[in-house]
Amino acid sequence: MGELLSLDKFKSIIEPFRIKVVEPIRKTSRAERLELLKEAHNNLFNLKSENVMIDLLTDSGTNAMSAEQWAGIMRGDESYAGSPSFLRFEKTIQEITGHKVVIPTHQGRASERIIIQSLTTPGQYVISNTLFDTTRANAEVWGCEVIDLPCVESKDTQSSFEFKGNMNLALFEGKLKELGSKVGLVVMTLTNNSGGGQPADPENVGAVARLCKAHNIPFMIDGCRFAENAYLVKKRNPDSQKFTARQIARKLFELADVISVSAKKDGIANIGGFICVKDDKWVETMRNNLILTEGFPTYGGLSGRDLEAVAIGLNEALDEDYLGYRTRCIEYMCEGLRKLGVPVMEPPGGHAIYVDARKFLDHIEPTKLPGQSLALALYELGGIRTCEIGTVMFGKMNGTELTPHTYDLVRLAIPRRVYTQSHFDYVIEVFERVVERKAELRGLRFSHRPKVLPHFSSHFEWL
Ligand code: F0G
Repeated sequence: MGELLSLDKFKSIIEPFRIKVVEPIRKTSRAERLELLKEAHNNLFNLKSENVMIDLLTDSGTNAMSAEQWAGIMRGDESYAGSPSFLRFEKTIQEITGHKVVIPTHQGRASERIIIQSLTTPGQYVISNTLFDTTRANAEVWGCEVIDLPCVESKDTQSSFEFKGNMNLALFEGKLKELGSKVGLVVMTLTNNSGGGQPADPENVGAVARLCKAHNIPFMIDGCRFAENAYLVKKRNPDSQKFTARQIARKLFELADVISVSAKKDGIANIGGFICVKDDKWVETMRNNLILTEGFPTYGGLSGRDLEAVAIGLNEALDEDYLGYRTRCIEYMCEGLRKLGVPVMEPPGGHAIYVDARKFLDHIEPTKLPGQSLALALYELGGIRTCEIGTVMFGKMNGTELTPHTYDLVRLAIPRRVYTQSHFDYVIEVFERVVERKAELRGLRFSHRPKVLPHFSSHFEWL
């Protein structure tokens, strides 16, 4: 009977929730969207969200909260110091991570700034499997140099290697020998968002942690998507199958000297973040830095109700029925796109589908921003908003010359518990139309490009 009822045996994705509150989606026409793109200078960050039909710009802060989380919001205690909401938040995170010290922040980048300013000095290096853009910007603005050393397999979007979030250990060891104490911090981003939402193997994370210890360098986990990472590890690493996602997540977190989490992802909340830190010598510096810009250490820029929502969401994110549904949605979309001949990052990751735009639009040179071209086509043809992760986000400008990034991806990030299977079917249909018109898609150039985090506010012109 159990076998017959297993949800894995059905084609339909049974979302493991019912919908109690709905939000309307406003339909727009292609002509209207063409006009809106002009007004937005062809930057999808400039669109009003009411003009977007399916918003896959990010999975960050866009999650639907549960009835339990809304109930927690009513219970939220807004005391400035020592709120019971903070104590619940602290206890939940202590249980999930195994760390004692929990410092709340308003979101991930606040944690990143505090950690980088507390643990590194300008001029040092930060080494990572791949830093996310805000972490990178925080390190660079502080005066550190960032070195990404993702594993070799991650460079080929079509390779089916299951742990593309791994660090390249040989290069990492070499860099540690070469740079020694000039390395101020080592970061594993789990899952590796900029590299395709891919998990890292616990053995790889363990090896990185051991090397950091041997060289006396602090080891940080950016665990924004810790639950998705743990579930993919359970599915892909035979030695991990006997453990729960919760146990896997905890074992990984215990390896870290410091943790940064944006609760806008696997906290299934709309705002929030936290830092965990092992060594007492950093705690005071971090708390003092927190007080300067975020708030007192029992709220850190959040309201009591936010602390409640995060505490409940973090536990919900570790529910394996939910995680099974969540990762199945990503697989389902990848299967649909693959059938259309659209190259997607393989294997499917935890929170998003990454289309290899450079490969898909191979008639557009990387300097002419194929990722942006595809992202604009998806909006024009279907009102779908996505995010370029490639030369727009990470390309380097030398004078007027643009050096392309190593890849040009378009990310379809799936907000948690927001869209259903028919929305995913619609997205696949829109891709069908893009495929039909592929040869007509042109390249673009920057008509305005700020130096820091250019993707947020650049303007683009069609070539
Ligand atoms: N680290 C990772 C791996 C992230 O994906 C993000 C945010 C952050 C840190 C920063 O957290 O937004 O709370 O300040 N990623 C979002 C995204 C913005 O769309 O992937 P934040």
